[in-house]
Amino acid sequence: MLWLSLIEEKPMSDSVIITVRPNGPLLVEGAIVLSDLDGKPWDLTGKPAVALCRCGASENRPFCDGAHKKIDFKAADSPTTPK
Ligand code: FES
Repeated sequence: MLWLSLIEEKPMSDSVIITVRPNGPLLVEGAIVLSDLDGKPWDLTGKPAVALCRCGASENRPFCDGAHKKIDFKAADSPTTPK
């Protein structure tokens, strides 16, 4: 598949890093394309990182707007083990 071969040829400096923030968003660093349900991409020009809401309370989803603090969102800091 074409996309697989492109990924394999990417140097490590182009890697995308996703970090779980404690009781907060997923911080996504690196060059990504983020699209809505219709496949329309958000304009992320000039943004080296985006924070994606995982609490569901943001009024600017899929992005975090800080609402997780207002609702006192609590989440495990580590991924859970699949059952
Ligand atoms: S994680 Fe920040 S508003 Fe949801």
